Amino acid sequence: MELQQRGALAGLLVLLLPLLLPGLFSPLSHASPSTFSEWNVPKPRHLSLLRSALQRETSHEKLSDLWAPLADQGWRPCVESTNAPSLPEKSEGYLQVFLDGGLNQQRMGICDAVAVAKILNATLVIPHFEVNPVWQDSSSFVDIFDVDHFINVLKDDISIVKELPDEFSWSTREYYATAIRATRIKTAPVHASANWYLDNVLPVLQSYGIAAISPFSHRLTFDNLPMDIQRLRCKVNFQALVFVPHIRALGDALVSRLRYPSRRTEVLSTNYLRETTDVIDENKASKFVVIHLRFDKDMAAHSACDFGGGKAEKLALAKYRQVIWQGRVLNSQFTDEELRSQGRCPLTPEEIGLLLAALGFDNSTRLYLASHKVYGGEARISTLRKLFPLMEDKKSLASSDERAQIKKKASLLAAVDYYVGLHSDIFISASPGNMHNALLGHRTYKNLKTIRPNMVLLGQLFLNKSISWSDFQQAVLEGHENRQGQIRLRKAKQSLYTYPAPHCMCQA
Ligand SMILES: *[C@@H]1O[C@H](CO)[C@@H](O)[C@H](O)[C@H]1NC(C)=O
Ligand SMILES: *[C@@H]1O[C@H](CO)[C@@H](O)[C@H](O)[C@H]1NC(C)=O
Ligand SMILES: *[C@@H]1O[C@H](CO)[C@@H](O)[C@H](O)[C@H]1NC(C)=O
Repeated sequence: MELQQRGALAGLLVLLLPLLLPGLFSPLSHASPSTFSEWNVPKPRHLSLLRSALQRETSHEKLSDLWAPLADQGWRPCVESTNAPSLPEKSEGYLQVFLDGGLNQQRMGICDAVAVAKILNATLVIPHFEVNPVWQDSSSFVDIFDVDHFINVLKDDISIVKELPDEFSWSTREYYATAIRATRIKTAPVHASANWYLDNVLPVLQSYGIAAISPFSHRLTFDNLPMDIQRLRCKVNFQALVFVPHIRALGDALVSRLRYPSRRTEVLSTNYLRETTDVIDENKASKFVVIHLRFDKDMAAHSACDFGGGKAEKLALAKYRQVIWQGRVLNSQFTDEELRSQGRCPLTPEEIGLLLAALGFDNSTRLYLASHKVYGGEARISTLRKLFPLMEDKKSLASSDERAQIKKKASLLAAVDYYVGLHSDIFISASPGNMHNALLGHRTYKNLKTIRPNMVLLGQLFLNKSISWSDFQQAVLEGHENRQGQIRLRKAKQSLYTYPAPHCMCQA
């Protein structure tokens, strides 16, 4: 009792902190997007649907349908170039890139950097990762990806060095941050063509022996490139980029604990390697769904949607928008209703729970929640947990010792979630975004089921406050028939990392 009171007092203090110490929470304290400047207890918003969903029952037949792997769709991974790969006779110089964004944006940047180095016959320097203002993780390439594997897989395609030779050691981020420099390319247009690089970067390489491109995110077109260059991008994304061994080991341990929950005995700090290499009975493996839920304050505020936290939440999100984006992201000119019916609001944990329930997942479904910070905390997640009591995450599955190496490192945490997401039977995202796109592409490449929520349909269904469960369920089922992993060919301008067919896959 006393402990609880003390806890409550501490909680109150945290709530009051912004008032007591306003300076602490000054603008641009990007580091902690979820400061406790408001307190809203999110309540379920779709009570009548929820009541029916809690009583749902799914036939055995329907369940085995849901969990069945995708049928062969006639496409195979296909990333080797048709011509024998070859290194240029001579390197035109060193290519450096500086990558913004979170893990998945950086991942695409790496693939594009390899392609640009190939176009230019340049030697690629292992890309530099900028610290993202929201995620605040200073992990470098080698902290996240297995660099030796990366170099080795690509050794016949391009030359890669871990560091610049001494004569170019001046070419650093700090050097470019402090003045205008001739070796920095600052003006690469979004989705630049191969010719743009040949016209604008090759001369710099030839004059100075080095070129540094920053910014570089989304700076190479997806269209009108030679097939060999496209294939090379695929090879980087799907073969050369693997996570460092400790991320893979932790990911394997999590997957194994999801598949064999009854074998989960005492979890010790160092035994996950041994545990996962034991011989296991495939037939007794459980299936599981990974839900990617990006529902942090950043996302909530950016969408400008109403998430049911009342006036306090609305005000708090509007204020956050102002502070973080300084007027660049305006309070939307659309009402919440309009945003929803256009499918522009991320699904809340409650809504994604209702979607899964309507699709037929019953309460014995094992879920893994891949998420960073959920805005509103456990209160916001509790409805989803009611629908799916067997819900796990990194914290529930691994000890704090096991998580020590990834603690507070947004990119490494995301890498573990990516790994588990790639190895799940079914993957689903509560909102489109980089993680969703990256995993959608990677799972398509491996012919794995991915449910793509029909945001417009769901937005409209959730707006109908009098909709019955059976109408809701029927509409959801019909609206998602063709959104479970069926191959969709990439269209012009779309990303080949999201839609790997036909460039990264061949029809067999
Ligand atoms: C799952 O749902 C069934 C049928 O609605 C119910 O009887 C059972 O208690 C539920 N199980 C859990 C763990 O909630
Ligand atoms: C790159 O090297 C290849 C073969 O060595 C050559 O055919 C091509 O013209 C070179 N391209 C550039 C931009 O130097
Ligand atoms: C809302 O749902 C009810 C009951 O399911 C249905 O009869 C009605 O047509 C729906 N309204 C709209 C606007 O779709």
